[in-house]
Amino acid sequence: MASDFIWPPFTQTRTAPDPIKIVRGQGSVLYTEDGLELLDLISSWWVNLHGHAHPVLAEALYQQAQTLEHVIFAGFSHQPAEQLAESLCRLSGLDRLFFSDNGSTSVEVALKMALQYWHNLEQPRKRILTLQGGYHGDTFGAMSVGQSSGFYGPFEHLLFAVDALPFPAAPQASLDWLDRHLQQHAADVAAVILEPLVQGAAGMRMYSPEFLEAVCQKVRMAGGLVILDEVMTGFYRTGKLFAFQHTPVKPDFLCLSKGITGGFMPLGVTLTTSQIFEAFEGNSFSRAFAHGHSYTANPLSCAVANASLELLLHPETLQNISRIEEQHRTFLTELQPQKDIQGARVLGTLLAFEWQCQGEYGSSCSLNLRNAFLQKGLLLRPLGNTLYLMPPYCTTSTQLGRAHQTILQVLGETKSTP
Ligand SMILES: Cc1ncc(COP(=O)(O)O)c(C=O)c1O
Repeated sequence: MASDFIWPPFTQTRTAPDPIKIVRGQGSVLYTEDGLELLDLISSWWVNLHGHAHPVLAEALYQQAQTLEHVIFAGFSHQPAEQLAESLCRLSGLDRLFFSDNGSTSVEVALKMALQYWHNLEQPRKRILTLQGGYHGDTFGAMSVGQSSGFYGPFEHLLFAVDALPFPAAPQASLDWLDRHLQQHAADVAAVILEPLVQGAAGMRMYSPEFLEAVCQKVRMAGGLVILDEVMTGFYRTGKLFAFQHTPVKPDFLCLSKGITGGFMPLGVTLTTSQIFEAFEGNSFSRAFAHGHSYTANPLSCAVANASLELLLHPETLQNISRIEEQHRTFLTELQPQKDIQGARVLGTLLAFEWQCQGEYGSSCSLNLRNAFLQKGLLLRPLGNTLYLMPPYCTTSTQLGRAHQTILQVLGETKSTP
């Protein structure tokens, strides 16, 4: 029975089945109240990296909870935050890190910083470029830059205008659009915001590093800033620590969240350059970035993020990441000849393909598939008619191999009615 007191996210409660009660997790497996085992192939909404209830992360959290659970972060600091900021700056090549507490806020921060940067320079630029279909979160700024994702009908009249670059189904046509746009508006382009290489919520839509590089170069040439939203792609999901590292591009802003704590605690961060940071310095508070959240740089989140980062960079984890990619690639050769399957693709630990049923987010087709997978012990959550796998890195080759074969079996058995 569903709780009468909870309003669940992204759910039409009238038609959705009751939520499945999970009582514990270990490795890539979640255990239900009824004693069923579910292999978490979506890393619990893309957050989990090392498996559920990982003892090293649990210990880091426990130790920190006994030392300092939280402290106001304006006028105060602490070791876990300083360590995390230094590590992420070094690993990304950026210079300064601002803490918030989820993916949407990491995007809000980047947008506000980009716009205030131009304001502080007294060269106000107002236009934000986005990539059509991009999703950046559910707060108002994030909705504005993600409005072409199609989730925000009731709020459309309140979202600020953005210019959406066509998705590069035909890359040259998109770049030509961008050239034309910049010819007209170059001096007013404040920034471009993109999910680098993969648009997650749009259906794991992938595009080339060359396109990313070309867009960033053109926007830079016009004087605009580059915001990369790696809330989903960060922490090796695409086979590199950050997706932008598949290219020579270095962003002006990098938004991270989700995997940052290995899936243990909410945390968002926005990294930027010294050049941006310095534009906020001065003798007056009006130049400062007047933004902060109560749980900014929560020590528990930072401690577990430090522990997760250490695990992530361990050779065994890196081997697992390569192994998952290889296993996905082998599976691709089995998938590609299947008659109802299109667009099978792999990038790092991500595997995605379209199944022939037509369905939007939450359609009966994707719900039927989700249920069929659950009955076979697989936690998968199709995005419309896109099926994807994004397993935690501890998923064993046996678990993954079994999942691949079960997927083929379920797709073979499930009638493709919309
Ligand atoms: C690329 C991207 N940006 C931002 C967000 C928003 O993150 P959150 O749900 O933590 O607010 C998401 C969430 O799926 C995302 O995929």
